[in-house]
Amino acid sequence: MTETALTVHQTARPAGFPTAGHFRFAESPVPEPAPGTVLVENLYWSVDPYHREMMDGDFELDAPLEGRTLGRVVDSRSPSLAEGQIVLHRQGWRTHAVVRPEEIRRIPSHPGVPLSAYLSVLGGTGLTAYVALTRIARLREGEDLFVSGAAGGVGTATGRFARLLGAGRLIGSTGTPGKAAYLRDHVGYDAAFDYRTGPVADLLAEAAPTGLDVFVDNVGGDHLGAAIGALRTRGRVVRVGTIGQYNTPEAPPVLFDHADVVEKSLRIEGFLVSDYQDAQEELYDFAVPHLRSGALAADETVIDGFERIVEAFLLMLRGGNTGKILVRAGS
Ligand SMILES: NC(=O)c1ccc[n+]([C@@H]2O[C@H](COP(=O)([O-])OP(=O)(O)OC[C@H]3O[C@@H](n4cnc5c(N)ncnc54)[C@H](OP(=O)(O)O)[C@@H]3O)[C@@H](O)[C@H]2O)c1
Repeated sequence: MTETALTVHQTARPAGFPTAGHFRFAESPVPEPAPGTVLVENLYWSVDPYHREMMDGDFELDAPLEGRTLGRVVDSRSPSLAEGQIVLHRQGWRTHAVVRPEEIRRIPSHPGVPLSAYLSVLGGTGLTAYVALTRIARLREGEDLFVSGAAGGVGTATGRFARLLGAGRLIGSTGTPGKAAYLRDHVGYDAAFDYRTGPVADLLAEAAPTGLDVFVDNVGGDHLGAAIGALRTRGRVVRVGTIGQYNTPEAPPVLFDHADVVEKSLRIEGFLVSDYQDAQEELYDFAVPHLRSGALAADETVIDGFERIVEAFLLMLRGGNTGKILVRAGS
């Protein structure tokens, strides 16, 4: 094991898009676990849109950042966690972490399932998609669905799960023609458009000429306004995220016909996946057999090397990922 640990700190608050200059890599000796704790060498890191939101205030400056991470216990001072155990914890953005047993989740061993899947389609990203469809939208077979941000981690998982749950027509939006083609050719979307090529309401009307039953919204803004217009009676909007405004706080407010919500008996509901941890085992039960049979795949963009974690985060904010973006430790 190396002698030096690396930790990423945020050094300044961004206005608009962050840059590499808002971060610093700090070196320190590998920490010693105290009695009752374990030392984890991290293997995979998740960088997420919510980290951008935390940069505005929740992340303390000049202190280690946090994020979902998978690692291996390499030094245990706790009888309840053996060396070699793979764990998921929240002390991300660093090569090594000292954690208490109650701060981790053990990663089950499902033969044939790659480790990275526990941070993507089986992790918080997949759980968000699963909760959006099953608990919030309560998707029924044959219903037509529109997903914004469809080529990202949550968006690809939503499309693949919706197919397996028997959705009708699946429509997705994303930021490049290449990613739109990926959604149609690999993820199971029937139609996908590049939202940069015209007003979203027009692109959606073309892709869903007869309307929609459910909208899973990762973006907000124009996407939300357009989808409310396109929803049928008793349609549901699942508000997952608002990535369209994390880097552009001055974005104009969403415009939609408020009477639509009443006259079409629409339901608009948001949620935080942290309130649905009870669905984790249900997600494993649903998704693992499909992963093992090949009916479900994990869409991931994997960046190699912890030293590229800031680059990976910034890449994701600019749409450089397809599927869940992950950082993998160099060998
Ligand atoms: N409610 C919850 O508990 C929960 C949990 C997890 C995630 N989320 C939310 O879910 C959304 C997706 O998260 P994720 O982890 O799956 O990230 P992701 O979609 O894999 O990555 C972010 C994507 O956002 C798109 N994007 C960036 N700026 C945009 C803009 N101005 N307009 C439209 N799209 C833009 C980019 O793709 P394009 O090329 O398509 O632009 C980029 O790839 C985020 O809003 C996140 O905050 C919520």
